Amino acid sequence: MATEQTDAAASNGKSGKDKKETLSVTDNRTGESYEMEITDGTVKAMDFRQIKVSEEDFGLMTYDPAFTNTASCRSEITYIDGDAGILEHRGIPIEQLCEKSTYLEVAYLLIFGELPTTKQLERWTYDITHHTFVHEDMKQFESGFRYDAHPMGMLLACVGALSTFYPGSKEILDPEERYMAAIRMIAKMPTLAAFSYRHSRGLPYVYPDNDLNYTENFLSMMFKMTEVKYDPDPRLARALDVLFILHADHEQNCSTSAVRGVGSSQVDPYSSVAAGIAALYGPLHGGANEAVLRMLRRIKKVENIPDFLEGVKKQEERLMGFGHRVYRNYDPRARIIHKHVEEVLEATGDNPLLEIAVELEKRALDDEYFTSRKLYPNVDFYSGLIYEALRIPASMFTVIFAIPRTAGWIAQWMEMSDDPEQKIARPRQIYTGAREADYVPLADRSGPEKILYEQARRPKLQQRGA
Ligand code: CMC
Repeated sequence: MATEQTDAAASNGKSGKDKKETLSVTDNRTGESYEMEITDGTVKAMDFRQIKVSEEDFGLMTYDPAFTNTASCRSEITYIDGDAGILEHRGIPIEQLCEKSTYLEVAYLLIFGELPTTKQLERWTYDITHHTFVHEDMKQFESGFRYDAHPMGMLLACVGALSTFYPGSKEILDPEERYMAAIRMIAKMPTLAAFSYRHSRGLPYVYPDNDLNYTENFLSMMFKMTEVKYDPDPRLARALDVLFILHADHEQNCSTSAVRGVGSSQVDPYSSVAAGIAALYGPLHGGANEAVLRMLRRIKKVENIPDFLEGVKKQEERLMGFGHRVYRNYDPRARIIHKHVEEVLEATGDNPLLEIAVELEKRALDDEYFTSRKLYPNVDFYSGLIYEALRIPASMFTVIFAIPRTAGWIAQWMEMSDDPEQKIARPRQIYTGAREADYVPLADRSGPEKILYEQARRPKLQQRGA
């Protein structure tokens, strides 16, 4: 608890064993000083509320648009050190997980907090494998979309709709319901994703095949044609599994915050995850890999890279797949993906865009504009190239991101639901609009004959960070 101090100096500048884990603040409006506890390198925003100029004053708030310096929760799931380029799940480095584990095992780790035993993994895998089918009505729901509907919009709607198929999931504190929701979402996400792809191609839906593992089955549902049994290339299935591990969780990013924020209203987990999918849909978040591929195509050849980079430096556009709110160093996921691109291309044949991507990265990392801003490749810079090699169309890239992120969303949702410090998410605002204005009758109003969208248009929207 914060305590008011009249003598700030008393708590200031101590060294050695007397050093206090506190922050002293003096309000120069009143001359009052306050002492606040520092825990885990943070102070509580609510401790500022006691700082007032008068009894009636609401108290001081903190202002942090986009939460750039605000921790919204305590979490034991994922650790990131953005400066050192470290990513760990439940303490295990991402490099080890990608080398030794599988996506389903990592999903278990994220959700239950530890690696499963052989028996636990068998049960987990069995349960997921046996919940991959969706209700036949869901197929009709998918069929209702227009032929050119974006698959991510379809996935978003379908996952939201799943809550109507499983009304028991509203019992968010019931362990059995929670387990079933986790199993169902991880199991059905590839099915819904593949159905949305088949719909966009006008192809018949392919039902899940329980003989195949998680990624093999997904490839089968995507690409099976007239053959009796789909025979996936194990190298491609493994590369996809590694991509799934890399995308499984990434602590409090935009979509995870959306899941936690919506879930804090105690709605069912399907609706919360649908909110995460909506957030992931945006080009500054999960949509970036699609944008990377469009960017590489636009650059067309290595000789055009200098002109392109000049345009980025003039802030006419962004170098997609570069930069990250948290990583101020090479994104460790990008390093792992880069290694796998070459393996995948060995299996599928060359892609000329790889040459452009490698050269673009090299030149950007040699350029003071990017190094001074600590802009390095992120997970999306190379992932699109792997998806393309797997014959997955660009409109499906974000969908493929959503499939594995489901495990992270569920783990974070469960942690949030069990956290006694959490309440319904409800930020404050600084109100800057008019006050106590009178209603003017329509006949008495005047103003320019401007079209509303012109007034509402915001310049440089594309340059705002997510
Ligand atoms: N290209 C060119 N300049 C950039 C880029 C970029 N990709 N990213 C940041 N900058 C510049 C930005 O213009 C600003 O410069 P200045 O200080 O001169 O104004 C500076 O770097 C800081 O940028 P910011 O926008 O304040 O950084 P942010 O933390 O708000 O944004 C980001 C993070 C990921 C949205 C941004 O880097 C970006 O738009 N990158 C491209 C989109 C992308 O690749 N997104 C995928 C993120 S990783 C996958 C995921 O987790 O979803």
